[in-house]
Amino acid sequence: PASDARAGDVGEITVIAHRGASAYAPENTLASIDKAAQLGFSWVENDVQRTKDGELVVIHDDSLPRTTNVEQVFPGRAPWKVKDFTAAEIARLDAGSWYSPAYAGTRVPTLKDYMCQIEHNHEKLLLEIKNPELYPGIEQQTLKMLDNQGWLDQKHLERLVVQSFSAGSIRTVHELKPAVTTAYLGAPDVAELHQYARFTDLINPSYGSLSKAYVSAVHSFEGPHGKPLRVFAWTVNDAPTAHKVAGYDVDGMITNKPDVVRAALGSD
Ligand code: G3P
Ligand code: CA
Repeated sequence: PASDARAGDVGEITVIAHRGASAYAPENTLASIDKAAQLGFSWVENDVQRTKDGELVVIHDDSLPRTTNVEQVFPGRAPWKVKDFTAAEIARLDAGSWYSPAYAGTRVPTLKDYMCQIEHNHEKLLLEIKNPELYPGIEQQTLKMLDNQGWLDQKHLERLVVQSFSAGSIRTVHELKPAVTTAYLGAPDVAELHQYARFTDLINPSYGSLSKAYVSAVHSFEGPHGKPLRVFAWTVNDAPTAHKVAGYDVDGMITNKPDVVRAALGSD
């Protein structure tokens, strides 16, 4: 199928478009995942948070000003936290002009709309539950929404990984839906990896905290689905770093510039 023909993998390294192809379109918007698809990549990463009235939305920061025009639209509402705005209010914001006038009018997507576009584009999703401590129950809510959209059937599960910086959040996801592939964002001590291996399939660290020995240690553990733990490193945005990180034997690289990483890895 077309989706496999543009998997974006180079050799055995999976290339994941961070917040979509976020070097080339405003991050975490439908435009950013369309851009990833146009460049030939199927894996994208995003960040999920929740509005005041309980809608799941795709946005990185816990506040709105960096990536929207919220300060102009709602001047009296500092500090403009995502959790203090309704979905209808957030739907009024421009999430593209900060990046480029060419993207004026681009919206902060709801997770529901985002998933529809992922499906439409035949993409695969590394979904980050962002700041879960601010949104009690967001794990259950996210899984329920994914289930309602048909994303927890066997076919879709192969196209989904749920990750978080919160080990507790990932453990909760694993306990609620053991079939879901999970990833922990960070680099736990090797001595602690056996505990993580009970509930996470991947260890996803910043590339700066990696070494070949550490990746090898991670690979020596078996995750909850009986396979070796894998490592996706972030955020690799240039050729020299891609070469260096490939030398650590990682399984994937999360990047704002998937085309640059692919070119770097392909030219070995
Ligand atoms: O997927 C890894 C990366 O997204 C983690 O950092 O801050 O971009 O969410 P951040
Ligand atoms: Ca993220």
